Amino acid sequence: MTLYSVFELTNLYGAHPFYLAMEEGGTGTAHGFFLLNSNAMDVALQPGPAITWRTIGGILDFYVFLGPDPASVIGQYLEVVGYPTMPVYWALGYHLCRWGYGSSNATWDVVKNMRNYGIPQDVQWNDIDYMDRSLDFTFDPAVFSTLPDMVKDLHSHGQRYVMMLDPGISSVQPEGEYWPYDEGLRRGVFINHTDGSTLIGKVWPGLTAFPDFSDDVTHEWWYDNLKRFHDKVPFDGLWIDMNEPSSFVDGSTVGCPDTELENPPYTPGILGGLLRAKTLCASSVQKTSSHYNMHSLYGLLEAKASACALKRMLGKRAFVISRSTFPSQGQYSGHWLGDNRSHWKDMYTSIAGMLTFNLLGVPLVGADVCGFSDQTEEELCVRWTQLGAFYPFTRNHNSIDQKPQDPPAFSPLARSAMKQSLLLRYSLFPLLYTLFHRAHTHGHTVARPLLFEFPKDVRTYGIDRQFLWGKSLMVTPVLDPGVDFVVGYFPQGLWYDYYTVRTQLYI
Ligand code: GLC
Repeated sequence: MTLYSVFELTNLYGAHPFYLAMEEGGTGTAHGFFLLNSNAMDVALQPGPAITWRTIGGILDFYVFLGPDPASVIGQYLEVVGYPTMPVYWALGYHLCRWGYGSSNATWDVVKNMRNYGIPQDVQWNDIDYMDRSLDFTFDPAVFSTLPDMVKDLHSHGQRYVMMLDPGISSVQPEGEYWPYDEGLRRGVFINHTDGSTLIGKVWPGLTAFPDFSDDVTHEWWYDNLKRFHDKVPFDGLWIDMNEPSSFVDGSTVGCPDTELENPPYTPGILGGLLRAKTLCASSVQKTSSHYNMHSLYGLLEAKASACALKRMLGKRAFVISRSTFPSQGQYSGHWLGDNRSHWKDMYTSIAGMLTFNLLGVPLVGADVCGFSDQTEEELCVRWTQLGAFYPFTRNHNSIDQKPQDPPAFSPLARSAMKQSLLLRYSLFPLLYTLFHRAHTHGHTVARPLLFEFPKDVRTYGIDRQFLWGKSLMVTPVLDPGVDFVVGYFPQGLWYDYYTVRTQLYI
């Protein structure tokens, strides 16, 4: 029997109404199907084989992709939703992050430690704790007072800085003391109730209003906020979180009106059982349409606003990592797979997550290396860093109140194993960057399932513990505790051992 947690059986952070199917008979033919629709929906797999789509709004805009092979299906799908953006080179490097460094000096110490041990690190991140009372576009004047100096130091070492922004804007600061809210109200950027009042929910800073990124006026306001903050802390990229959008209350602090949009005749199987569960009122009003129709587009439109603002401000390719995603996301951002646990199982399932987002046109993707919640262990963290060295996007991220899990926090043996795997990744940058370019120009995947290159070999179809970078680099990671070998499957062909260059013919 397989045991699932409740979160594994419900909606997650994004919506991608697309499937890729391998057809029966072992001929290697595949097809794809896309329903371009942003409303809440059920997708039920029938035994047939058949699939039932049940959407509660929008239009039925279907696309069928005939392949005939799986890679061609994806190429055709990406012609519709857009090829992924070309990432900046440093995006390929090692990223280090955690929630709860506690101060800019503590963050800085980690960077210095990494340098001391000669472990490659391109990017240092901060979570919400850099902010003053969790307010966007501020930094804590007490414990993060040296943040601008740290960023300057990163830049002088050729390193970069990325920090988090949540969409919720605190609505309860004294008038005149918090420009993002005051100015947002003045320009009318926030999502409203049907009666025209600002919808107030609850996120990390307490009561918050939510910018409507479907309005160009909001994009301009977002840019102005970023520019004002960048003048103080010259960050290089953005991490946009809680953008499903997520709220700690259902609908709003005053609930939602009792209308058909709030209580439609049928509600798809979503966590909480209500459209407004831990998000905004479905009936709330956005520039383009009701939140009922726009909900699943929130992360996409915030990423678009963020990428456009960064490009305009810095004159360079934008680096944005988003939690919520929708088709076309890859044009604007990458994605991390969200809150996982420091468990062996979560490391294993991250491979399927990473491969899925490659099929969806978001190749800049990875899971929180070493695990987010719960305490990691040294062996797991080493194995995860080794696997993570082959995520297209590799970032070690940890939750608040957990012990440090950056490479210098471990024994010399573990540290050097992590360093070795990261150096291997760095030595493969020319390949990785080329693969991203192929994704950007031809709609290819970067990390891909074995079945993409061996579609006629049905034994590759179920493989979720191995994967490829491009056509020919196969990764077979250790995913279990206490072992020092792995059993992998080699499809027919001539394979070289990367380390020894010994060849092996599989027939
Ligand atoms: C969310 C994010 C997580 C972050 C936390 C605090 O849970 O998914 O990555 O650390 O919020 O901002």
